[in-house]
Amino acid sequence: MLAAQSEGRKIISSGNTELDAKMGGGIPLGSLILVEGASGAGKSVLSQQIMWGALQDSYLVTLFTSENTVRSLMAQMQSINLDILDYLLLGKFRMHPMALARLGSSAPDKLLRVLKGIRGRDLIVIDSFTAAISHAATSVQIVSFFEQCKRLCGEGVTIMITLHPDAADHELMNPLRSMCDAHLQLRAEQDGQRLVKTLQVAKVRGASSSTGAIVGFDVEPGWGMRVIPISKARG
Ligand SMILES: Nc1ncnc2c1ncn2[C@@H]1O[C@H](COP(=O)(O)OP(=O)(O)O)[C@@H](O)[C@H]1O
Ligand SMILES: [Mg+2]
Repeated sequence: MLAAQSEGRKIISSGNTELDAKMGGGIPLGSLILVEGASGAGKSVLSQQIMWGALQDSYLVTLFTSENTVRSLMAQMQSINLDILDYLLLGKFRMHPMALARLGSSAPDKLLRVLKGIRGRDLIVIDSFTAAISHAATSVQIVSFFEQCKRLCGEGVTIMITLHPDAADHELMNPLRSMCDAHLQLRAEQDGQRLVKTLQVAKVRGASSSTGAIVGFDVEPGWGMRVIPISKARG
């Protein structure tokens, strides 16, 4: 039995109350989560925040990363006060570096095979899946990858996939977005004179409160994601 089920909790929290509130109170377990954002928009930091929150709640977490080594991830997370070294040593957090570009067009299928073999994990994060999409042979292959992930989510695991929005054209992105239970969009936007990072909670299916909010945030050394006010009127 997964740690989450045995303790009767039902959501993945970021461990940041303000951020959770904007995400409808937390993302229900068993969700397929899509995080979209260009380079530097905050995909990895948001993933790290959510992995940290999940570990704090005694969930078991596995990360597939195309960007970090164990050492660089620990250093990066410590720099924003998200220290997960103990969880790593206890096996509650596992990470697998992946070279998606090197796998070429077989990347989605190979990754899926590995995902299917994982047992007893509550949260699986793939940061990022961009290279798999850009090297995929066909979009059918990608849609099928998402469908299979969704099937795994049906068994209770939560899967979070980060993507650069330019990785695929609209004809592929739209079906992927609608397939996901939660869709988070990260952007760097002009707010008056400032350039602010924003998180748009496009949807969180099954959230306890409403979503759709756009929240401004900053990444601060020694702190992490801090929600900040934005003035820009939204239409
Ligand atoms: N320790 C830190 N101190 C300050 N800024 C940071 C720190 N860690 C990450 N950032 C900033 O957070 C932003 C988001 O980075 P990241 O999550 O890596 O983006 P992405 O994964 O979308 O490319 C970047 O602007 C990066 O400089
Ligand atoms: Mg990143």
